[in-house]
This record gives sequence, structure tokens and C-alpha cells, in this order.
Amino acid sequence: MTGNEPAVRPARPFFSSGPCAKRPGWTLDALNAALLGRSHRSKPGKAKLKDAIERTKRLLGIPDGYRVGIVPASDTGAVEMALWSLLGARPVDAFAWESFGEDWVTDVIKQLKIKDARVIKAAYGELPDLTQADPHHDIVFLWNGTTSGVRVPDGDWISDTREGLTICDATSAAFAMRLPWDKLDVVTFSWQKVLGGEAAHGMLVLSPRAVARLESYTPPWPLPKIFRLTKGGKLNEGIFEGETINTPSMVALEDYRDALIWAESIGGLEALLDRSNANFNVIARWVRECGWADFLAQEQGTRSNTSVCLKIVDPSFTSLDEDARYAMVKKIESLLDKEGVAFDIAGHRNAPAGLRIWCGATVDKTDLEALMPWLDWAWTQVRAG
Ligand SMILES: Cc1ncc(COP(=O)(O)O)c(C=O)c1O
Repeated sequence: MTGNEPAVRPARPFFSSGPCAKRPGWTLDALNAALLGRSHRSKPGKAKLKDAIERTKRLLGIPDGYRVGIVPASDTGAVEMALWSLLGARPVDAFAWESFGEDWVTDVIKQLKIKDARVIKAAYGELPDLTQADPHHDIVFLWNGTTSGVRVPDGDWISDTREGLTICDATSAAFAMRLPWDKLDVVTFSWQKVLGGEAAHGMLVLSPRAVARLESYTPPWPLPKIFRLTKGGKLNEGIFEGETINTPSMVALEDYRDALIWAESIGGLEALLDRSNANFNVIARWVRECGWADFLAQEQGTRSNTSVCLKIVDPSFTSLDEDARYAMVKKIESLLDKEGVAFDIAGHRNAPAGLRIWCGATVDKTDLEALMPWLDWAWTQVRAG
């Protein structure tokens, strides 16, 4: 204690970028209706899985004809299932501007060894030249780079008459940013990000064109059971009706349903977008005035309203070497953790040293407003050594 701590503390100091804060008012009671000790293939089990799929479709405005499935291994499972099942039919353009995009580049180049793959990159804080996307190629990209806080501003760069598929990891964007479904053939996300659900399963959204690829192309490499989306050359439609490939967690499922029902109750997608945008604006106002921090994302239109990444621009920080910068960020994080006012707000380990504050819809604006003076307080403490 220094005696000059800010007067107000965030009521819920949960600003981690995943797993993210639970929805306001969440308690364990939210799980009371979970179908425990019963088969996920029983009538009520399948009904719950299907209900989660239907609510997801409605909430996100996913067009009729698109399939939505619950798949194993969270967002990573959904992305890799798509890459392994679909790629190899055409050249690939893989875009990367931070750590998770780099992971998918590794899959494309080093694991799947796709011939004619192009990697189009940018440094942390920037967006690569999206106009490089060739409509004859398959395109792999993130809607929001969680570790740099840089998002694509829109889908205008994606051709309406493309021949290739667009494969979009939208795990830190879905439910917080508007996704132009007509531009997206594969979209993936998990349960624990914007809706604050439990980590476990991934969501895989397929356009009719993605389904057509699955039914007309067989990749040359073996596919483990956990990745198999077709049976006898046809889409396994059951996966998109709640017949999961293997056993899901019925607790995590109930929690996801609870989050979806909460989202509906506050006004649906528009209300979720509004909450994230209002949260972002709290940080944006603070950044304009604080004098020591700035957005890592350089262009205003590319700034994430979920994983908000900040760099420290004060010369006492920028003059340090990299190790010292990371150490200083760790100190800020642990001071705030010790005070119980913010958890997990150091940037991702692969990103430049800085802060990352989750602004998704489950975070309350008043908690971010309370946090801002604490950031100044922690910076003052740490800078003074
Ligand atoms: C953009 C992106 N892709 C993939 C992942 C990995 O997600 P999961 O751990 O849910 O598989 C994350 C996690 O933060 C992410 O932000």
C-alpha cells in the first residue's frame, strides 16, 4: 500500500484474454440444468447440443445453408480440422501478423507442406497487405489477432467471385465484431472468449462452398478420426446437428448455453457489439490522456475491441533492453494482481512487451473505468522502482 491508491476498485478484475470473464451475474447455479451422467447421444443430450448450435446461428445471423458444428479441441481443433480437411486443392495465401496467425502458417508450410503457398506477413501492430489475396487461392487468416490487438477492418478485400475458400479464425472476434458471412467460407471460434464460456470445444462454421469442397476433394494425407468431416465422400451432416465426433463436456455445453441465453436477454448481437465497443472506448479515452501508453495497433480502423494491446511509449521504458521491458511489464501485472484490481493483463509472451486488456462483452464498462487510474498508479510505482 502506498496511500495513494485509486479509490475505486473494479468489482470484477477479470481482464484475461482467455479464458475470459464470465458473463455479469454468473454463478455456478448457471450449470444446474446440465445433463450430467447421461449420454450426449441420448434424446435430451442431443437436444441440448442442437439447441446450442441453433442459438449460435440465430445470435450471429449465420445464413441458412451454412453448417455450424461443435468440434473437439477448442478453436485450435476447429481451425486445424478445416486446414487438414480442405487445403491442398488450390494454392494458399496465408496471412500472419501475430502469434496465432504464425501457428497456422506453420501448419500450412511445415506440416501440410502445401505447394504454391504464399505467406504474407506484417510486424506486430500492423496489418499485412490484404489486397495480395488472390481470389483463385485459398486464404487463411484471423479476423482479430489476439496477441497484437490488430483486426481486419472489414471483408471488402475478399472477392465476391472468388474460386478459393476463405478460412477465418475468428475466435476473438465472433460476438464482438461484425462478420460478413458472404465473404467467409470457414469460420472458427471457441466458447471461452467473447461469451466467457468454458474452454473445451470449438465451433466450425462452413459455407455451402466449403461443403462442396469437402464433398469433391480428398486430401492426400491421412486424417485422424477427430478431423473427419465426411463419410463416404459426403458431409457427415450429423456433426452439424449435434452428433459430435466424440464425447463433449455437458458441463461446458450448459455453460455455453447459459452464455448464449444471457446474450439473447441483453439484446443479442447488437448489444454484444455495443458492450465491446463501449469497453474499447474507455481505454481509448484513457490512452489519449495518459502520456505513457499507446495502442500497439497503428491504424485506428484495425484496433481490436476485444484484445486491446497497449505498448508503453515512455522513454524510461523504450530505452530499456527487451528483457528489462518484459520484467517491467511483469511488475505492473503483479502489482495489480496483488491489489486484486486486474488479473492477467501482461501482453502475450510472443508479443512485444506491453499490456493486453480484454474488452469483450462479458466485461463491464464500469470495471474498465475503475481500472484506468490503477494503470497510472502501477506505472508510477514501477517507474519509481
Ligand atoms: C486467434 C486465436 N486463435 C487460436 C487460439 C487458440 O485457442 P484455443 O486455446 O481455444 O484453441 C487463440 C487463443 O487465444 C486465439 O486468440
